[in-house]
Amino acid sequence: MDPILTVEHLHKEFDGYTVLDDVNMTVNPGEVVVIVGPSGCGKSTFLRCLNGLEKIEDGKVLLDGKIINPTGVDIAKDRQKIGMVFQSYDLFPHKTILQNITLAPVKVQGRNKDEAVREAVSLLERVGLSNKKDQYPRQLSGGQKQRVAIVRALIMHPEILLFDEVTAALDPEMVREVLEVVLSLAKEGRTMLIVTHEMAFARAVADRIVFIDGGRIVEEGRPDEFFTDPRTERARRFLDSFEY
Ligand SMILES: Nc1ncnc2c1ncn2[C@@H]1O[C@H](COP(=O)(O)OP(=O)(O)O)[C@@H](O)[C@H]1O
Ligand SMILES: [Mg+2]
Repeated sequence: MDPILTVEHLHKEFDGYTVLDDVNMTVNPGEVVVIVGPSGCGKSTFLRCLNGLEKIEDGKVLLDGKIINPTGVDIAKDRQKIGMVFQSYDLFPHKTILQNITLAPVKVQGRNKDEAVREAVSLLERVGLSNKKDQYPRQLSGGQKQRVAIVRALIMHPEILLFDEVTAALDPEMVREVLEVVLSLAKEGRTMLIVTHEMAFARAVADRIVFIDGGRIVEEGRPDEFFTDPRTERARRFLDSFEY
């Protein structure tokens, strides 16, 4: 089985300062890879490099075996195959939930509006929010807005979903409702790359854990191995800083 995503020797700098150093990774179809690591180690930058939000100094990013890292319009279509959900949901405040969700499939993918609305409604149902479709983002809680953001990514039919600390800005009681949606996506076999600080969740959802420190992959392995018996001192110290 060929990987969906391949990263080879990725090197990223900000103003001459190395943030990602020779990062190599593959994500196979249906695989859930969870990236963990201390704050500032380069996790968000890594995800941003994958979907072209950051230029990279060296290395390759391949989607279905095709290079997608140069910035340019010719690969915009390929990038639509990568769905991304951030910590902040960035919904348009003056548009309803339904409008927020159907905007990109209609405008960017040129899809039929009625069809997009039907799919939006069914996805909203799936995340327990069908009663919110005509409301505005300000009328929703943080957890609800984050579930809308997930729907907005799903409706584009991405081949791989990237999640960057999607629960970090949420009150504790809302974390669970969002993680449950992500878990259900994992169970249906979606290919995902997830950055999270929720270690119990990471352990439950991951097929593979990748531990990054100082812009490099320090250790990777199966979650049961990583969480019970990390191989490196750095991973051990990192895990000791969590209670879970
Ligand atoms: N736009 C930027 N310009 C300059 N430095 C940045 C920028 N974005 C991130 N950095 C730096 O890159 C490093 C990695 O940041 P980030 O990827 O956000 O880490 P993480 O998501 O793991 O907390 C940090 O040292 C951060 O300060
Ligand atoms: Mg980050």
